[in-house]
Amino acid sequence: MNIESVCFEHTLDVVWASGEVSHYSFMWLRDNARDERSFDARTHQREVFTASLDSNIKPLFVERRNAGALLSIQWELDCSPIEYTSTFLYRYRQPFKTQTIRGTSTLWDRDVEPPVVDYPSLSDSTQTDQFLTSMIEFGFVLVRGCPTDLSSVNALAEQLGYVRETIFGGVWSFEADEAMADSAYTPRELRPHTDGSYSLDAPGVQILLCLEQSASGGESILVDGFAIADKVRREHPEIYKYLCHIEVEGMYQGDGVTLLARRPILRLNASGELEQVTFNNYDRNVMRLADDQMQQLYDGIRLIDGLFNDPQYQWRHQLQAGEAIVLDNWRLLHGRSAYVGSRKLAGAYVNREDFISRLGLND
Ligand SMILES: [Fe+2]
Repeated sequence: MNIESVCFEHTLDVVWASGEVSHYSFMWLRDNARDERSFDARTHQREVFTASLDSNIKPLFVERRNAGALLSIQWELDCSPIEYTSTFLYRYRQPFKTQTIRGTSTLWDRDVEPPVVDYPSLSDSTQTDQFLTSMIEFGFVLVRGCPTDLSSVNALAEQLGYVRETIFGGVWSFEADEAMADSAYTPRELRPHTDGSYSLDAPGVQILLCLEQSASGGESILVDGFAIADKVRREHPEIYKYLCHIEVEGMYQGDGVTLLARRPILRLNASGELEQVTFNNYDRNVMRLADDQMQQLYDGIRLIDGLFNDPQYQWRHQLQAGEAIVLDNWRLLHGRSAYVGSRKLAGAYVNREDFISRLGLND
């Protein structure tokens, strides 16, 4: 969009070719100048020493050039004018919030039609786009036709970022093993939970691949944490407030480490939008809050855990060998019914920021 006209009395006021009008403070314009003295285009790093700018900084003159595709601004104290492209100014023409997954998601319950992708088709960019779109919309994808070895976990991780190293290693495989320190390694029921409640940066994505399946039982369970949060917000606003404000501490103790992290079960961003659901009753540490706060937390847990375990909100599926679930661990809860027999799975985590970058939400 080209610039039709400008004036600069107290702010820079731009009239766009569409007739829309935008205002920019002088400080913002000087701080975000993209010329080579102010900004390193190679590293995308700011070179301006912002704190040293005069808070009353003003342009001496502003010139519209190239039929409104450029503005040239001569600032007081600068030796030469700085050019601003209309593309850059138009992108920031008004305050905006960063796009969130919650803003583009479709809430679901037990009747969700699971998004399915064939593993071999992931080399095709159209299918990869479909895979990423489903991760944004539903928070999970069922991948069929995976080779039943660890290479496919690696390949799926690379669709979204790269394999994250944790206390459990990178790509892991497991079957029921009572000797392990974590409840995930037993054949008992695993109630819906998120992973890494004890991590300051909980895994963004979890990949679970079924390598062998000859058990009876052992259905995988997924729950849309965003949908449950939305229901609580609408129907129990008081409890929603507790769940958004009371920090819960998660703990992992074993293998020579003690990992601790605290955040509310429903973590909102500064704009009040839901960013992350964290719930793992197995890993919740002992906390001694004031009695009324403890009571509020227990009310919250009773309500939300009841909803997470209500079959109406659970998508259930018996994973077969060669099937993988890729899930958004900041949105979905996962669990598994008890089983008897042999079941072998492999998995890995991907970091949140790499996942978000791959989704293109930062562009
Ligand atoms: Fe888990």
